[in-house]
Amino acid sequence: MESFNIHTASHDSKILLGESIRNFTEYLPKGKVFIISDSRVMTHYGNLFKDFPVIIIGEGESNKTFQTLELIFDRLINEGCDRSSFLLGVGGGIVCDVTGFAASIYMRGIQFGFISTTLLSQVDASVGGKNGVNFQGYKNIAGVFNQPEFVLCDPFVLKTLNRREFIGGFSEIIKAAAIKDAPLFSRLEQDLDKALNHKEDVLEEFIRAAVRIKAKVVQEDEREKGERRKLNFGHTFGHALEKLTGIPHGEAVSIGMVLAATLSVKLDLLKSADLIRLIDLLERAGLPTRSPMPPIELAEVMTRDKKKEAGLLHLVLLESIGNAVNYALPVTKLEDLLNDLR
Ligand SMILES: NC(=O)c1ccc[n+]([C@@H]2O[C@H](COP(=O)([O-])OP(=O)(O)OC[C@H]3O[C@@H](n4cnc5c(N)ncnc54)[C@H](O)[C@@H]3O)[C@@H](O)[C@H]2O)c1
Repeated sequence: MESFNIHTASHDSKILLGESIRNFTEYLPKGKVFIISDSRVMTHYGNLFKDFPVIIIGEGESNKTFQTLELIFDRLINEGCDRSSFLLGVGGGIVCDVTGFAASIYMRGIQFGFISTTLLSQVDASVGGKNGVNFQGYKNIAGVFNQPEFVLCDPFVLKTLNRREFIGGFSEIIKAAAIKDAPLFSRLEQDLDKALNHKEDVLEEFIRAAVRIKAKVVQEDEREKGERRKLNFGHTFGHALEKLTGIPHGEAVSIGMVLAATLSVKLDLLKSADLIRLIDLLERAGLPTRSPMPPIELAEVMTRDKKKEAGLLHLVLLESIGNAVNYALPVTKLEDLLNDLR
């Protein structure tokens, strides 16, 4: 087990990598604890939480909403949740995003923590303190920055994920390497197959590396003023794809990274050999790399996205494998660039 803290101006958050889900009570504070989870996660792990009140939310992106918050608030009020209570999200990115937001606004904020049970949430979603919900199809349009007390990541729980969900998490690991860590990208090229086959030491090495990258960036720029924006590589295209096609987050980000890297080549920032390396690695992971719709059709959603400021679209592009750059593209140029992208 490896444990380290993410220090931010507002808070310290403990990251517990390789800790067993069975030991979670060691990290709970005094006071009443409420579990928030979904029924699939509870089918597998519910017996560990039978001594606690459990609030079940619906599965899937369509449940990351204010309606789900209402359901949670209703239960919390009825069961006497007060300022000394603690919310523990047990699940993937959706459970963690919703739990963190509910805890951040219930009675102006109570403490919370996560047991992160998907690969995608272990390497990305549960780390870094971004919590929120969608509204009218706009991803994460309502939310806060607020760090959990702890994030527990047990790699053994990943064995009960279905294959498609497991693979989706590799998208965020490959993203972390592509934007920040060329040696990690090379390690992935070398040993991706072992991690895909759940070879423990290799999978844990990649999870640790991705979490460390995210933790470092979050410490430098918790509120996403500059450096943290780079973690959005692939996400501006990805969120538009999620909204328009409903494909899962990890897959949308995979296609989004290819589109952003292709744009980087078109703008003479990136060599096409690096684009090919990125596509090869994503395809080896079994992730999609081609947009199911012409990229030009993503433009309208992208320019209405919250990352647009003062007529500029803030994109993250690549200069090389391991090096991302924040790029402010005038919205007026976007359509031209996307027109012949595939
Ligand atoms: N806050 C952030 O910084 C951040 C970063 C990246 C992604 N996200 C968000 O994360 C969400 C996607 O998260 P996700 O990919 O984890 O999907 P998810 O939370 O929908 O989980 C996928 C499915 O896996 C099931 N599941 C979870 N753990 C399981 C386990 N151990 N065994 C069996 N089944 C299990 C769940 O019941 C669910 O049906 C998106 O909403 C995305 O926007 C947030």
